[in-house]
Amino acid sequence: MPLCRLIYQSQTSWDQLTNELLRDLAVKSAKSNQRRHISGLLILSGEKFLQVLEGPSEEVNALYAKLIRDRRHHDLVLISYEQIATRCFEDWSMRVVDLDDLPPTAREFLRNKYPEVDGSIEIPEDAAKALALLFDAQALCLDETEFGDAS
Ligand SMILES: Cc1cc2nc3c(=O)[nH]c(=O)nc-3n(C[C@H](O)[C@H](O)[C@H](O)COP(=O)(O)O)c2cc1C
Repeated sequence: MPLCRLIYQSQTSWDQLTNELLRDLAVKSAKSNQRRHISGLLILSGEKFLQVLEGPSEEVNALYAKLIRDRRHHDLVLISYEQIATRCFEDWSMRVVDLDDLPPTAREFLRNKYPEVDGSIEIPEDAAKALALLFDAQALCLDETEFGDAS
């Protein structure tokens, strides 16, 4: 089955999504994605999510249909959808990173590269910039020795 990469952003519904719920969401998503051969990364910055999903097209499409209906977030914007030959985000079935909770060195690194809005890194709508931020977040998670505990 062909592989695809889907990237979208959305707005959190904070009245419903507490930190505890977010942790629960991360654990459940990781388990469910593993069964469906989906991998990816979910960034939270301020009140916005940016998520990349990679996996078999049918599985990713079915998950996106569920995500659109999930009331824990709203105003989803599809940033990019493409067929891929190989995965770039294969390290986690789902990893959640809150950019506001990163250690100071990691935050400084991002602040030097990306604009901020209301004290948080702005989630880009441009596909190339969104992918760049996801790659940087992935690198920060993988390189926790240099930047401190980014989990
Ligand atoms: C920001 C956000 C990201 C999510 N990411 C995933 C994910 O990667 N995988 C997943 O299975 N569910 C994810 N969910 C939850 C799904 O929307 C949905 O609730 C879940 O797949 C359970 O669906 P079900 O009730 O049909 O089993 C996410 C929800 C939100 C709000």
